[in-house]
Amino acid sequence: MLLTTVLFVVSLPVCLASLALDARIPASPAESFLDSRRAAAANASYLETLSEPQRQVFDYVLDALDENFSPPFLFNSPRYSAWYAVALLARNGKGDVATASEILEDVISFQFTDPNTNWYGTFKDLPSAPDPGDVYPPRLYTSYDTNIGLFVCTSFIIIMEEFQHMLEPSLVTLMKKSMYNATVGDGYRVGGFNGDGYSAGGFIGDNLYPIYSNPWYMRVMAATYVGKMMGDTNMSHWGDQWAAEAIANFNLYRTLAEFNSGTYTGVTLYALSLWGYMPKNSTIAKHAKDIIAKTWTSIGMFYNPTLHTLGGPWDRAYGYDMRAYYGILGGQIAGIIGGIEDGSAPLPRPIVGSEHFGDAAANVLTPLIAKFNDPYVPAAALAQLKGLSKSHAYSAQAVSPPWDNPTVPRNYTSWTAPGLSIGAIASDEKVIGGAATNQAAYVPASIVWSTGSQTAWFNMYPTSGTISAAASPTGLTIAYPTSAAFNSTLTSNVMTFLFSGFPHLSLPADFLAIANGMSTGMLPGLRLTLSGNVVSAGTRTLVYGAGSINNLPYYNLTYVFGDLGGAVPQIVIAVEKI
Ligand SMILES: *[C@@H]1O[C@H](CO)[C@@H](O)[C@H](O)[C@H]1NC(C)=O
Ligand SMILES: *[C@@H]1O[C@H](CO)[C@@H](O)[C@H](O)[C@H]1NC(C)=O
Ligand SMILES: *[C@@H]1O[C@H](CO)[C@@H](O)[C@H](O)[C@H]1NC(C)=O
Ligand SMILES: *[C@@H]1O[C@H](CO)[C@@H](O)[C@H](O)[C@H]1NC(C)=O
Ligand SMILES: *[C@@H]1O[C@H](CO)[C@@H](O)[C@H](O)[C@H]1NC(C)=O
Ligand SMILES: *[C@@H]1O[C@H](CO)[C@@H](O)[C@H](O)[C@H]1NC(C)=O
Ligand SMILES: *[C@@H]1O[C@H](CO)[C@@H](O)[C@H](O)[C@H]1NC(C)=O
Repeated sequence: MLLTTVLFVVSLPVCLASLALDARIPASPAESFLDSRRAAAANASYLETLSEPQRQVFDYVLDALDENFSPPFLFNSPRYSAWYAVALLARNGKGDVATASEILEDVISFQFTDPNTNWYGTFKDLPSAPDPGDVYPPRLYTSYDTNIGLFVCTSFIIIMEEFQHMLEPSLVTLMKKSMYNATVGDGYRVGGFNGDGYSAGGFIGDNLYPIYSNPWYMRVMAATYVGKMMGDTNMSHWGDQWAAEAIANFNLYRTLAEFNSGTYTGVTLYALSLWGYMPKNSTIAKHAKDIIAKTWTSIGMFYNPTLHTLGGPWDRAYGYDMRAYYGILGGQIAGIIGGIEDGSAPLPRPIVGSEHFGDAAANVLTPLIAKFNDPYVPAAALAQLKGLSKSHAYSAQAVSPPWDNPTVPRNYTSWTAPGLSIGAIASDEKVIGGAATNQAAYVPASIVWSTGSQTAWFNMYPTSGTISAAASPTGLTIAYPTSAAFNSTLTSNVMTFLFSGFPHLSLPADFLAIANGMSTGMLPGLRLTLSGNVVSAGTRTLVYGAGSINNLPYYNLTYVFGDLGGAVPQIVIAVEKI
C-alpha cells in the first residue's frame, strides 16, 4: 500500500549533493531519513516546544526507529508504524508528512471492520496473519489483540490535536472513522466475558477490568475523546463511567493496580498524559493530574538512581536492569532527568538491538505529551530520580479484583540503598503470576545490586498465588501461608529463585548448600545467608541453562519440600552488600 518511491524521489537531490551517489541508484530509506532529520532541524516548530531532555529522548529514539523503518512498516507492525507516523509528523522534516500519511492509510487498512466480531475496530498485529476464523481460531491475545486498537487510537488523538493541519482532509476524516470504530470495538470488552475462550489462570473471558491499568486508562481516553469528537454522548458517558471505576480503584491505596512495572507504568502514564486533550469537564481530565503525581511518588520510591533502574518487586517485568532492556518508563524518566548523553538514563545504549526494543516506539509519543505529565512530578519524586540522598524503606498497597479479594490488598515493601534494591510483595491471589497470570513477569521478591561492573539480580519465581514476602534493609523473608482471601487450593511445595549477572563466574554445585549448619554464599558484590525450614528441610537443586525469561538465562535455585510438621514454609534470605 505504501508508495515507498516517494521517499526515494524526494531524497535524491540531497543525496546527490551530499553523498555523490550515482544518479541511477535511488537513495536508501536510511539516507532519506538523514535528509529529513537535517530538514527537521530547520523546521522543528513543534519539537522546539519540548524540554531539552524530552527532545533528547525523542531524537535518540526516533533515530533508532528510522534505522529500523522498513517500508511500509516499522517492526512489521501496524501498531508501531502508527506511533512512528505520529513522530514523523512531529519532526516534519523533508518528506516526513508524505511518509506519515502513507503509513497512516496503510495502518488503517489493517483495521478490522466487521462489527459482528469481538475484534471489531482493532488492528492486525502481524500484517501477514489471516483474519481470525477457521484456520486461525478466534482467541484474544492470540489471533487478535484488542489492546492494539487502543494503542493506535490514543496515538491518533495526538495527531488530531497537534498535527491534523498537516494532513489531507480526506485522511483526517478516515482517521476519525478509524478512531470511532476502534473505540466502539473496545466497548465490546467486558471483564469476564467474550474473549473467544481466552483464559487467564483458568478464568475464562476478557481480562479488561479496571485494574488492568494500561489498556483501561487508554480506553478511558479513547471513549472520552472520541465521544466528544464524534458527538456520541453514550461514548462520552462510558468514558466518564470507566474513568470513575479506575479512579475508585486508584484512590483505595493511591496506586495503580498494575503496580511498579518498567513497561506498563510507562504505558499508563502515556495514557494519563492525554488528559490535556480531553474535554475540560470530563471525569478523567479532572483527576488525571492527581493520579500522575501519586504514581510518580511511587516511582520515586522504587527508582534506584545508583543502579539507574526501577527496583523491584514488579507486577509485570520484562527485565530487571533498565539499561539492559527497553522499558517505556525509562524513556519518561530520561525525559525528566536527562542522562542520554552520559549514559546515566535508565535506557539501553545503544537501543537498537536491545531487549524489547520495539517498545521504544512509545517514547516518541511520550515526549510530545510530556507537557501534561512532567509538571506534575512532585518535587520529592524528582529529587529521588536524580539522586539517592539516603537509603530508604518504602511500603505501598495495591489491589486487583477479581484476582485479589477486595479486602486483602497486596502489600509491597522495599529497601533502596547505594547499589542495592530489595523488594517484595505479600499477595493472596486466586491466580499464580499476578493479575496478568504470568509467572515469568510477576516478581514477588527481588534483590538487584551492583557487582561493581554489572547489575545482577536474584528474583523469586512465583509458584503459588499466596506468597507472603517482605523486604527489609537486611534482606527478604518469604512464607507460604494458607490463603485467607479465597478458599484457595493453590498451594505449592516449591520455592524457586532465579539469578544471574556475573560474567567470568561459574558457581559450584554446592553453592548455598548447607555446610556446618549454615547456607551461605558469595556472589560478586553480595553475601547471602539463607535460613528457614524450607532450607533446612527442603531438597535443594541448582541448575543453569534449563530456561530463560526475556532472553535472560539464569541459575535456578529450587527447594522442594514435603510437610514441614504443620509449620508454614518459610525462607529468610539475609544479604550484605560488599
Ligand atoms: C516545514 O513545515 C511546513 C509546515 O508544516 C511545511 O509546509 C514545509 O514543507 C516544511 N519544510 C521542510 C523543509 O520540511
Ligand atoms: C468502520 O466500521 C464500519 C462498519 O461498522 C465499516 O463499514 C467501515 O469501513 C469502518 N471504517 C474504517 C475506517 O475502518
Ligand atoms: C453505549 O456504549 C456502551 C459501551 O461501549 C455499549 O456497550 C452500548 O452498546 C452503547 N449503547 C448504545 C445505544 O450505543
Ligand atoms: C460535560 O459537558 C457536556 C456538554 O455540556 C455535557 O453533555 C456532559 O454531560 C458534561 N460531562 C460531565 C462529566 O459533566
Ligand atoms: C496486607 O496488609 C493488610 C493490612 O494493612 C492486611 O489486612 C492484608 O491481609 C495484607 N495482605 C496480604 C496478602 O497479606
Ligand atoms: C470459604 O468457605 C467457607 C465455607 O464454605 C465460607 O464460609 C467462606 O465464606 C469462604 N471464604 C471465602 C473468602 O470465599
Ligand atoms: C527451576 O528448577 C526446577 C527444578 O529443576 C524446575 O522444576 C523448574 O521448572 C525450574 N523453574 C524455572 C522457572 O526454570
